[in-house]
Amino acid sequence: MCGIVGYIGERQAASILLDGLSKLEYRGYDSAGIAVYNGEKIQMSKAKGRLKVLSELTHDGETLPGTIGIGHTRWATHGAPSDANSHPHFNESMSIAVVHNGIIENYIKIKKMLESKGYQFASDTDTEVVAHLLDYYYKGNALEAITKVMHRVEGSYALGILFAEKPDTLYAVRKDSPLIVGKSANGNLIASDVPAVLKYTRDVYFIENEEIAVIQQDNMKFYNMYEEELTKESVKIEWDVEAAEKGGYEHFMLKEMHEQPKAVADTLSPRLKEGKIVLDELNMTEEEMKAIRKIMIVACGSAYHTGVTAKYILEGLARIPVEVDVASEFRYRNPILEEGTLVIIISQSGETADSLAALRMAKNMGSKVLAIVNVVGSSIAREADSVLYTWAGPEIAVATTKAYSAQLIAHYLLAMKLAEVRGTVTLEELAVLIEDLKRIPEQIELLLGNREKIQKFANRYVAAKDVFFIGRGIDYAISLEGSLKLKEISYIHSEAYAAGELKHGTISLIEDGTLVVALLTQEELYKKTVSNVVEVKTRGAVVLSVTNAGNTDMEKNSDYTIYIPKTNKYFTNSLAVVPLQLFAYYISIGRGCDVDKPRNLAKSVTVE
Ligand code: G6P
Repeated sequence: MCGIVGYIGERQAASILLDGLSKLEYRGYDSAGIAVYNGEKIQMSKAKGRLKVLSELTHDGETLPGTIGIGHTRWATHGAPSDANSHPHFNESMSIAVVHNGIIENYIKIKKMLESKGYQFASDTDTEVVAHLLDYYYKGNALEAITKVMHRVEGSYALGILFAEKPDTLYAVRKDSPLIVGKSANGNLIASDVPAVLKYTRDVYFIENEEIAVIQQDNMKFYNMYEEELTKESVKIEWDVEAAEKGGYEHFMLKEMHEQPKAVADTLSPRLKEGKIVLDELNMTEEEMKAIRKIMIVACGSAYHTGVTAKYILEGLARIPVEVDVASEFRYRNPILEEGTLVIIISQSGETADSLAALRMAKNMGSKVLAIVNVVGSSIAREADSVLYTWAGPEIAVATTKAYSAQLIAHYLLAMKLAEVRGTVTLEELAVLIEDLKRIPEQIELLLGNREKIQKFANRYVAAKDVFFIGRGIDYAISLEGSLKLKEISYIHSEAYAAGELKHGTISLIEDGTLVVALLTQEELYKKTVSNVVEVKTRGAVVLSVTNAGNTDMEKNSDYTIYIPKTNKYFTNSLAVVPLQLFAYYISIGRGCDVDKPRNLAKSVTVE
């Protein structure tokens, strides 16, 4: 994971680096560091802890004067979070500085080779080998040294590199970790992600695998790893800067939950034209849609949970068999992808290492890959055969909310389109579904408006030790997400169970006062889940039920009931997840946790 930034221009670099890092803290926040060339030598400051520790240490960058520098915010992989393991890393004479996002897989072998030549290491990181290896190969030509390093190291990397002997040039390299270059009138920047440069420019180059950027104040060149110059086109970024800021909300998560109606509407409306679903982005003819024999959905985390939901909907509406797997399992289980299998990779960031590897594997095996992605131009978006973008805008809180909601919408649209083409729903049924879809944004708004009720309930359970989420069918998929939201931001142990599975073991954990969150939005399964609720109540559980408006009899079986507005059975996840997000949020606040940056996590998981 980790975030990298770099600047060269006419302004003081340190404050620009710190500002850029503040937009990348979602990528990791175990430690931070910057290195700036001051006209004579490279000076460095780094510290364990959040970025604010580094800002204080450097008096907001004032202690490191200079107009060229690099910076890093870390999510520890090799080497515990500590001052020594923080980036930047250096060669022994401190004339080469490196920041790195990714993992150098063969670093032990390289370290041994370098140690045998007398190099001494100051950290436990894989990154430090890059600094020393650059030193080993550097004979006055920085580009040559960099390409030699690229041929020698294995793994993933986005690197920002400073050479004290090249004080007017910033170098950046990428393989399998994201990297962009921003071009502005007052100087140029590198970063792991666009929000870090948006304050200064909207003109961005996306660096591809095994490409090198050689950047000067008013000039930039791109090379491949054979030192051949490349021509690249810049892209204009259209998002608002404010979209990446908190905009008056106490936390990004709260803001992003409130942006869900817009995220849903923005994902939906461009695909609804004159009462029909238009998905030209699929890049598929009707014949190709009819020829799909199986869908394989692969993703991680919450994106995987939208995949579980999508299975019920794609099978229910389009009658196509669907398999869902987490990417880290899929990629190592030698899967069978028969002809006619459409592989769907779901990812907010478009950079998740396991999902990207799964995509590449599926393509190598000859499957067509459709990506459902939020970040335009991300690796997964670029490598897939076709992309269905979710238009949720930049998501900053580590715990996803609006991107998850937008992913659900993308799947509804896909399932409905396939159902229409394959004739598994009538046009009349489709028209009703479309009307239900259009109501989702305002229904989410309504649920968000009820947040105080949920806050009150959450306040009573901040001390909960174990929470169980139960449901059947799509309600089980909702449970998975509700449980993950709660545990990731509140650190309360929680589990999701298919309600019918409870009595095969888990019910033995229910005792007086155990909190159970029951999802009952699937009318045909309602009575079955009510029985499970009664079973846990009998054993002392406190039950919070989430069910459809009108199911008032639930009140006698539950301690607390939340109603969601009426919608089609396939769309209930979009509504039921909202109170669960709010519940997790308020519990997290009540426990004094860092909602937007929960411990040990990072937003973008670019290592496996
Ligand atoms: C991390 C995030 C989750 C996200 C998952 C997959 O764990 O905290 O919110 O669901 O990665 O990320 P992706 O960017 O591929 O959706």
